[in-house]
Amino acid sequence: MNKKTLRDIDVNAKTVLVRVDFNVPFAAGKVADDTRLRATLPTIELLRERCARIVLVSHLGRPKGVATDSLRLAPVAARLSELLCRPVLTAPDCVGPAAQAAVEALGPGEVMLLENVRFHPEEEKNDPVFAQELASLAEIYVNDAFGAAHRAHASTVGVTAYLPSVAGMLMEQEIATLSQLLDAPAHPFAVLIGGAKISTKIGVLTHLLSKVDLLVAGGGIANTLLKAQGLAVGQSLVEDEQLDVARDFLMQAQRAGVRVLLPSDVVVGAVGASSGGARVVSSRAVPSDMMIGDVGPESISAIRSALSSARTVLWNGPLGLFEEERFARSTRALALALAAAPAVTVIGGGETGAAVAAAGVAERMSHISTGGGATLEFLEGKTLPGVAALDDA
Ligand code: 3PG
Repeated sequence: MNKKTLRDIDVNAKTVLVRVDFNVPFAAGKVADDTRLRATLPTIELLRERCARIVLVSHLGRPKGVATDSLRLAPVAARLSELLCRPVLTAPDCVGPAAQAAVEALGPGEVMLLENVRFHPEEEKNDPVFAQELASLAEIYVNDAFGAAHRAHASTVGVTAYLPSVAGMLMEQEIATLSQLLDAPAHPFAVLIGGAKISTKIGVLTHLLSKVDLLVAGGGIANTLLKAQGLAVGQSLVEDEQLDVARDFLMQAQRAGVRVLLPSDVVVGAVGASSGGARVVSSRAVPSDMMIGDVGPESISAIRSALSSARTVLWNGPLGLFEEERFARSTRALALALAAAPAVTVIGGGETGAAVAAAGVAERMSHISTGGGATLEFLEGKTLPGVAALDDA
């Protein structure tokens, strides 16, 4: 990465504003998945060792510029405090006299989490006055929010105009791992793309065509590709307006000599039912009143065997509707297959990370990205504004 990192700057006893992405799921008022919190511990620990005063700033959800009780960060501070085994202080706001006073009261090595930065409409507008106010809390800015690096907001971009600005350890690791995938992957390089919509992943698929040897499709994306090949997919989720795009993509893949593996068999079920009634059919014989919910066992074997020789595997998006038990089989089987594979395995954030964790094999992947949209945009070859804004190395 051609940007300065925490290692390039003296943070000793300084007040450091750290942008983190603590936009995490909640259940019953508590953090339901703390992966994004754990991922920032190396940066926080390093700053603590240097006796910095650590001021964390994050968004949570999309409150649209309005203070919203259900999107307060106190439960996140509580979980972070458990992970750090020390108190994490909170502030009633992220700017203004209350925030300022809270930061001034911080001692060396102490950690504070400011209130949700998106309670202010100026955040998403990247308002320079608001950015300057945030910056006025600290002497150095560290961006460790890879998951929010695709947003050009005040706390990810605007603030860099006013402070020395460097990447945190998580940001550095994410960029290094994903850059390696794009620039110099070990071949054969296989990419598994699932999820609902081809429209959200076509940029990634197209950008990766010149770099990969094998593409495996699942989920709604595979449905759209199957239909683009002329197969009937019944009541399955399909983006009909993307059929031309899908056809064009299949032609490009053929021209590029990239093998595209689509499911030869699928698990179908009744529309609207959430359990039972699932059965395996050929993808050439999907009943007109049923929907595809998962790829079938024959396809899982084909994917496993195609992956066995891969030296690099990138997986983004579940292969089926894995939140329903009757359609969860292929996603779980794939997670287990990757855990056993000798390849470098990179998991592209969000739901895929959750699927790997649900299969109990998160620790066995080479890297699980903390980004959702940010990971996709990076893999599309786009410049992330939150990275571009940091000081050059
Ligand atoms: C994410 O979860 O992808 C990031 O936190 C960004 O959230 P946003 O899509 O609301 O900007």
